[in-house]
Amino acid sequence: MMLKQRSFLLVLPISLQFMAIMVSGVDNFTRSDFPADFVFGASTSAYQVEGAVSGDGRAPSIWDTFVHGNAEYYNGATGDIACDEYHKYKEDIQHMVDTGLEAYRFSISWSRLIPYGRGPVNPKGLEYYNNLIDELILYGIQPHITLYHMDTPQALEDEYEGWLSQNMVRDFTAYADVCFKEFGDRVLHWTTLNEANSFAIGAYDNALLPPGRCSLPFGRTCTKGNSSTEPYVAAHNMLLAHSSVVKLYNRKYQAAQHGFVGLNIFAPWFLPYTKASEDVIAAQRALEFYIGWFLHPLVFGDYPDLIKKNAGTKIPVLTPHESKLVKGSFDFIGLNHYATFYVKDNSSSLKMETRDVNGDMAARIYFEPGDSSPDQDNGTSSGIYEVLEYLKKAYANPPTYIHENGQQTARNGTLNDTERVKYMHAYIGTLLDALRNGVSNTKGYFLWSFLDGFEVLGGYEYAFGLFYVDLNDKQLRRYPKQSAQWYSNFLKGGSIRTNEMTQFVNETFVSSKSHASQ
Ligand SMILES: *[C@@H]1O[C@H](CO)[C@@H](O)[C@H](O)[C@H]1NC(C)=O
Ligand SMILES: *[C@@H]1O[C@H](CO)[C@@H](O)[C@H](O)[C@H]1NC(C)=O
Ligand SMILES: *[C@@H]1O[C@H](CO)[C@@H](O)[C@H](O)[C@H]1NC(C)=O
Ligand SMILES: *[C@@H]1O[C@H](CO)[C@@H](O)[C@H](O)[C@H]1NC(C)=O
Ligand SMILES: *[C@@H]1O[C@H](CO)[C@@H](O)[C@H](O)[C@H]1NC(C)=O
Ligand SMILES: *[C@@H]1O[C@H](CO)[C@@H](O)[C@H](O)[C@H]1NC(C)=O
Ligand SMILES: *[C@@H]1O[C@H](CO)[C@@H](O)[C@H](O)[C@H]1NC(C)=O
Repeated sequence: MMLKQRSFLLVLPISLQFMAIMVSGVDNFTRSDFPADFVFGASTSAYQVEGAVSGDGRAPSIWDTFVHGNAEYYNGATGDIACDEYHKYKEDIQHMVDTGLEAYRFSISWSRLIPYGRGPVNPKGLEYYNNLIDELILYGIQPHITLYHMDTPQALEDEYEGWLSQNMVRDFTAYADVCFKEFGDRVLHWTTLNEANSFAIGAYDNALLPPGRCSLPFGRTCTKGNSSTEPYVAAHNMLLAHSSVVKLYNRKYQAAQHGFVGLNIFAPWFLPYTKASEDVIAAQRALEFYIGWFLHPLVFGDYPDLIKKNAGTKIPVLTPHESKLVKGSFDFIGLNHYATFYVKDNSSSLKMETRDVNGDMAARIYFEPGDSSPDQDNGTSSGIYEVLEYLKKAYANPPTYIHENGQQTARNGTLNDTERVKYMHAYIGTLLDALRNGVSNTKGYFLWSFLDGFEVLGGYEYAFGLFYVDLNDKQLRRYPKQSAQWYSNFLKGGSIRTNEMTQFVNETFVSSKSHASQ
């Protein structure tokens, strides 16, 4: 299976369940230790939970096409039904209310709202998102909306190859305009693109993500693409589209709606694989390639010198006009932080004439450290502290949200997810530590994920949810795991200590078969 194969650049952490999580932050804390306006919630994305992919006027996105075209990759599983949140959103919002979630981060399916990418709005799509937003507001839950989560309307991919074309700037901006106009009276928090950096790699370099483009030897079976150049071109067009949307919001909606628009990136922390100086420098390169690729243009108006040097003519030039548009075009940065990774120097890759992004980064990334030098903490929750402090120092202290943080476990029907509780306890405690030590520009924390949905890597084989969804049950019933009970206790003001966690254990075991291979 694909997941077991070596990927050239990590897209998502795929073996986190084997990592021991150690508490490096505050152990004894309550909700009231965080600022009152700090927000706690949970995240999903449209394709991963909505289902109803061909109902009510929705047209396919590249994600539908990718999943149906890679049946072996997902063991035949698809997001066609997923958690059927499209029909069950009211029930889901009751679960959010019971849990005490203060915010819900979800994405809009572009091809549900505007089926062919541009042109007429689908009235059923509009109605669905209006209902979802209204129901959240009714219960005092803040909607935080992501406009794009790997799901270009297939029509635009067919017409001009999606993000490889600057036409996306025009069409994405027009789509965002519809969203701001229709929903902006009730929605304050907008994210343009989810994980722009890892999406550029996964989609155009190693083909782990839709639309699955690559060129040999960098991907698996590469039918079209160019892993050397396309990730940089797509990322460039994403930056331009993002900043065009921010400009639109500021010009047309900000005065009346008073909202915030940001970009989301995949933001692990990187430590050297060994204490050798070349690995220390390689870990710095990894930070430049993962975080600097997008944040340097957003904060300073240009790509990092290191990337320009190593990518050479493959990376498009930000013209003075584009640079002006991109620089400063954000109200916040969304961070998806799951773990700390370890970086080993591979400078020899720079001698290769044909290189992908990983080759330009000249490093290899590992899940585990290579030696036990004392400054290595073996992937504890401290990475969330480090990455926030790094942003504060290197990128002028931008407002941030932790948009995703979570742990993968096997999806085998047990509601006893003590490991996830430990993980959340450790990361939230470390976040509190960071806030107390001056990382004060972080505004919220969202757990990935609210439900056990269709996972990007592995479909229904793995789970990240607070709620188990019984896929073998026609009703797709949801069951709160121990982590949901723990989070709920925390959100409702309970004191949280490691030795109190056992009180939340729920031994109930529910069916684990699924509609996955239908
Ligand atoms: C945990 O914190 C609460 C509130 O500050 C305090 O009352 C309690 O004694 C603490 N418990 C431990 C074991 O430190
Ligand atoms: C990728 O694009 C570069 C620059 O245009 C070109 O030199 C190279 O041959 C292309 N590679 C493939 C596999 O098409
Ligand atoms: C280092 O880079 C070379 C050239 O790209 C590649 O063949 C090799 O597999 C890489 N080594 C590691 C450990 O990833
Ligand atoms: C990290 O792992 C190494 C080797 O597995 C071990 O010797 C060391 O004690 C660990 N460090 C911490 C802080 O747990
Ligand atoms: C579920 O998977 C976890 C992790 O692999 C394992 O520890 C647990 O025993 C499994 N539970 C059942 C009921 O299979
Ligand atoms: C355990 O979970 C089941 C299924 O959601 C629920 O019916 C039951 O009340 C829970 N038990 C406890 C002690 O929370
Ligand atoms: C829940 O899981 C934890 C760790 O996997 C284990 O120590 C504990 O005994 C389990 N509790 C129940 C009630 O199964």
